[in-house]
Amino acid sequence: MPTIRFVREGRDVKCGVGDNLRQVALREGLELYGLKGNLGNCGGCGQCITCFVAVIDPTSPEALSPLTEVEKVKLKARPANWRLACQTIVKSSVIILTKPQSPPLNAKALIESAKSAPLA
Ligand code: FES
Repeated sequence: MPTIRFVREGRDVKCGVGDNLRQVALREGLELYGLKGNLGNCGGCGQCITCFVAVIDPTSPEALSPLTEVEKVKLKARPANWRLACQTIVKSSVIILTKPQSPPLNAKALIESAKSAPLA
């Protein structure tokens, strides 16, 4: 059972193999969206481009599903480690930063701390 370590929230969340990352985050009550996404999002269709996450450290290169065709277009000008949560399927444990477009001031320290503890 994969663990998703949410860096900003300081939480480890268990999920099933094949679970959708957006659905896991919302189920756990995590704040996935910024202001724009909270005002209106597409509900997971890959159209609003507001559910950004940064993949910090996957346990394997195949920890997440490959980029979808939608992501290849929508994320063209974004950092290579960004995903759209609604398009991402979890296969094994991974460290995630939600809302990477507005990282916390102590993001670097949070990320280093998150990477220092083993993922279950
Ligand atoms: S929820 Fe709209 S692109 Fe992911």
